[in-house]
Amino acid sequence: MTLTLSVIGTGYLGAVHAASMTELGHDVIGLDVDAARIAALQEGRAPFHEPGFEEVLQRGLESGRLRFTTDYAEIARADVHFLGLGTPQRADGFGADLSHLEAAVDALAEVLPARAGARTLVVGKSTVPAGTARRLAARLEAIEGMQLMWNPEFLREGFAVRDTLSPDRLVYGVHDPVAPDAEQAVAMLDEVYARILERETPRLVMGYEAAELVKVSANAFLATKISFINAVSEMCEATGADVTDVARAIGMDDRIGSKFLRAGVGFGGGCLPKDIRAFMASAEEHGVAESLGFLREVDAVNGRRRARVVDLASEMLGDLDGRRITVLGAAFKPDSDDVRDSPALDVAGRLLAAGAQVTVTDPAALENARGRLGDLVELEQDTAVALRGAELTVLLTEWSEYRELDPTSASSLVAEPRMIDGRNVLEPQQWREAGWEIRSLGRANTVPAPRVAVPDAAAVSAEADLADVDPAVVQPALV
Ligand code: UGA
Repeated sequence: MTLTLSVIGTGYLGAVHAASMTELGHDVIGLDVDAARIAALQEGRAPFHEPGFEEVLQRGLESGRLRFTTDYAEIARADVHFLGLGTPQRADGFGADLSHLEAAVDALAEVLPARAGARTLVVGKSTVPAGTARRLAARLEAIEGMQLMWNPEFLREGFAVRDTLSPDRLVYGVHDPVAPDAEQAVAMLDEVYARILERETPRLVMGYEAAELVKVSANAFLATKISFINAVSEMCEATGADVTDVARAIGMDDRIGSKFLRAGVGFGGGCLPKDIRAFMASAEEHGVAESLGFLREVDAVNGRRRARVVDLASEMLGDLDGRRITVLGAAFKPDSDDVRDSPALDVAGRLLAAGAQVTVTDPAALENARGRLGDLVELEQDTAVALRGAELTVLLTEWSEYRELDPTSASSLVAEPRMIDGRNVLEPQQWREAGWEIRSLGRANTVPAPRVAVPDAAAVSAEADLADVDPAVVQPALV
């Protein structure tokens, strides 16, 4: 059955959700207060780099089932309203800034009475601290026939459309899982996701707080896994071991799994860093700060890996003042132009602060990087031009273009063949043979450790696992 849906907030989450819902057969109106963003979307232009998104957007617009507006009055008659607002870190602390979400709920509440008597569902998708949904539900309580659900989103940048249309699971948070009106709300959201549910995608119904906690716990777990292997990296550096050997071997234990065990310069982006901080702030508000105290260490390990790159640069070059360093990557991960809390830009900033002459290159994120590091940094789109004259090259975002760099041709461009591999994607031996001095985070930086033979099948499946989470290796397939 075709429903009319609104999606409020057309950032990464909202824009992808709106366009993807037309692929499920619904009529969709995307709303944002940012008129320039709405104009771009209405013209079929993606406001961010996301493989496959623009095609889905244009297909939706061409079908006549997708449009965008800045006017709340235009969405008043929708059957289901999705809330896809951003919840960034507050300027004054670790907590989540819920002001955009609250403003949207208030604006929606103003227009909703136009449908009094009809069933209306409001579905929160934003990442929020436990307790938010229940508070927002109270704001909407007075409106007849209105129900609020919380349906967290687990999409990854670089795989956003695929993750939206083929999620691992759907989580529905309701005010009371056994209340009859909750059943009605669940049935209505099932109609929205009918085509996804037909494929037997697991769908879990639970209370608001559990649904809210599922999302932040998942992100906190992923961040912890990355910082765990990065802490092991520090031990590897202290003992002369190779962290890629350790990760590969422990990842073959099904209980541990090989995904998110890629050691390097750590996590960034608009989600993992702010979500672990908001989770800690929320634990403190609920009087259980010590329960999530370990996340402070997760954050600290992540920060130390960035600092370690600068230490390695100093070990290789001595005083960094005036030295020419080229940073490969600005985005927080490949196949994205997102530079929010990007480890690459953070390290570039630290190198600048140490007096180095820094050039940053990236295939997609330079426009967003502009201005973030002041005027001293040079931004150069062309990799070969960026490498010219470098005394040290630092790989910090593993775009396939950088993973596939040929050490011999690269050495003819740089002034000195020195490399720091901050993502463990280059084969050190191959680079050494081509005359490079290469240092990698968490890897034996002298002679490569002898590799222990592993059975072929196991090796192949471990590679497949790693490739599965790596946007640089796998292109997203659309549903
Ligand atoms: C993350 C989650 O993976 C999504 O499930 C979630 O929906 C999303 O946040 C969100 O809350 O909206 P995303 O921020 O797109 O998705 O990025 P990830 O793929 O999780 O990567 C995060 C960071 O961790 C990147 O900087 C990446 O380079 C780093 N990373 C990842 C590692 O350093 N090592 C790894 O093994 C994996």
